[in-house]
Amino acid sequence: MPAIVFDRYGFTYAGATKPSLEEISLTIEEGETVLLAGSSGSGKSTLLRSLNGLIPHMYHGKTLGRVNVNGFDVSTTSPTELATKIGFLFQNPENQIFMFSVRRDVAFGPENLGLPQEQIRNRVEEALTLMNITDLADRAPHELSEGQKQRVALAGVLAMKPKILVLDEPLSLLDPKTAVMLVEFLTEIKRRMPLTLLIVEHRLELLANLLDRMVVLHQGRILGDGPLRDVIASDEIRPAGVRIPAIVRLRAMLEKNGLRFDSSPISTGELVVQLGDLDVD
Ligand SMILES: Nc1ncnc2c1ncn2[C@@H]1O[C@H](COP(=O)(O)OP(=O)(O)OP(=O)(O)O)[C@@H](O)[C@H]1O
Ligand SMILES: [Mg+2]
Repeated sequence: MPAIVFDRYGFTYAGATKPSLEEISLTIEEGETVLLAGSSGSGKSTLLRSLNGLIPHMYHGKTLGRVNVNGFDVSTTSPTELATKIGFLFQNPENQIFMFSVRRDVAFGPENLGLPQEQIRNRVEEALTLMNITDLADRAPHELSEGQKQRVALAGVLAMKPKILVLDEPLSLLDPKTAVMLVEFLTEIKRRMPLTLLIVEHRLELLANLLDRMVVLHQGRILGDGPLRDVIASDEIRPAGVRIPAIVRLRAMLEKNGLRFDSSPISTGELVVQLGDLDVD
């Protein structure tokens, strides 16, 4: 069963004159890692809200078509029930951390599910270990660095054991070193469990090795969808104004000058390796 299905889906916020999403048909298979890109106002957050049930249960408006998460129709499933299938990590962990200690915070979700104490304890320990924050367990979240807070928030989401994880600009508040670390954690989590990941993020270079696929939104519609390296280098997504990594632009320039590459490098490291393989006189 696919993790996520949008079937000719459309949404217009109550009072708005035009739809924020139109004719969205998109299937994401279990285990895929997908980047959702598009300029400001293209509909990314609206699409994410349509997955966790904020639309239509909190934000009202006119809906067309349907959205399924793990086979459940979002319009007839409560947000609480959806929270066990799909976890969300937002840009600002402050919005997700509010208890007096890290351990209490990570336990909050599983406690709300009404699980037995023993199971809650196990889930919390597992999530703390996975995010390498066991030593922070008794600290107050407000004493932590941005990167540590982000890991606490992610541990809280993982303790719900969702099969799908949605990340809305998870790296934008982090310094480069911490951002690289978070990506390493995500890579490790993916290695250990068959998570489906949907990520909105502008700092593409950092995620290049994690992503399988890229979906580009433009004015509420899908403008591009396919393997990351094909979509990012394609002309069809130019109108969307997605920031193209410098490496991808550099490659295009080098190709104009007669160089040929085996695959599409996205990071500096990949470009250097490929240039090393080329016969450049
Ligand atoms: N609560 C709302 N009520 C009415 N219109 C909204 C609401 N939220 C978003 N919109 C409109 O829907 C469209 C898509 O907005 P959305 O927030 O989904 O874009 P986005 O891609 O997430 O942008 P950003 O990159 O700035 O976060 C925009 O035209 C926006 O003005
Ligand atoms: Mg948004």
